[in-house]
Amino acid sequence: MSPANVELGFEPPAGLDSTPLQVRRLSDLQDYYADKDAVRELVAAGDPEIYAYWAIEYAGGGSGLSYGVTTIQPGVVGHEFYMTKGHYHVAPGDEMYLAVSGHGTVLLRNDAGEVKRYELKPGRMVYIDEGWGHRTVNDGVDPLVFISIWSPGTGHDYERVLREGFPTVDDYAVGESRSLGQ
Ligand code: F6R
Ligand code: ZN
Repeated sequence: MSPANVELGFEPPAGLDSTPLQVRRLSDLQDYYADKDAVRELVAAGDPEIYAYWAIEYAGGGSGLSYGVTTIQPGVVGHEFYMTKGHYHVAPGDEMYLAVSGHGTVLLRNDAGEVKRYELKPGRMVYIDEGWGHRTVNDGVDPLVFISIWSPGTGHDYERVLREGFPTVDDYAVGESRSLGQ
């Protein structure tokens, strides 16, 4: 990679070697939501976009950084807010999330099944230490846009989230930070 000064938004920056925008619709995420009736109804009614992200993955031989932007739309599936699949990094490597706009919660889970829940909003940073699986939830009313910066080569294990289960945030549990419709 070479020095860069780029605008970070929904779409990948032009002229840099980015992944194409990955759009995750509800039909791609059926296994991740608990309320299967709500999933069926929403998919049949238009299959909403839940989130989209792109990444610039460092592929050099040195100690570079990978980074990207995720945009999670606001909404609920049954009693769960729109959220990412969530994953564990398979090789050692930490990550940092920085919000651009909106309001969210980052859920972390480690090998011992311990769970942490951190607020994500402009002006706050979430640091994801090695060994902690992570999922991001939009519990606001606007799109949640955040920047991720991580150590290259960590890989992403999504199967483990399905195999072991992963915490979610439902709209009845959030009261202290916000509730839908405010
Ligand atoms: C990279 C990272 C984020 C997520 C993105 C989408 O390590 O944590 O860039 O990849 O927010 O979430 P997932 O990957 O869980 O679909
Ligand atoms: Zn990650």
